[in-house]
Amino acid sequence: MSEFIKVAKTTDIPDPGKQLFEVEDHLVVLFHVGGTFTCLEDVCTHDGGTLGDGLLDGNTIACPRHGAKFDIASGKALTMPATEDTIVHKVKVEGDAVFVQINDD
Ligand code: FES
Repeated sequence: MSEFIKVAKTTDIPDPGKQLFEVEDHLVVLFHVGGTFTCLEDVCTHDGGTLGDGLLDGNTIACPRHGAKFDIASGKALTMPATEDTIVHKVKVEGDAVFVQINDD
């Protein structure tokens, strides 16, 4: 199991907003919505689109390639053409620091 790694300050990402980070060789998207931070692997399960370039709408992110939507908290694939969920990474906030723990299971 990976360690939690500091990736940002809470004020670095607007709410609502998102930002791409490289953490332990993973490209991940950190979301800030409604005061909560969540993190997904930057990969659409349909055909590898970069979710970090997608449109954030409430608690969903739309893949910029063919429009599949994913839940930003659960990674659940919500619409076609994606049928598999994407990887969720754990996030914790301590003070003004945001940490991500890579899910490498
Ligand atoms: S690669 Fe994301 S919807 Fe096709």
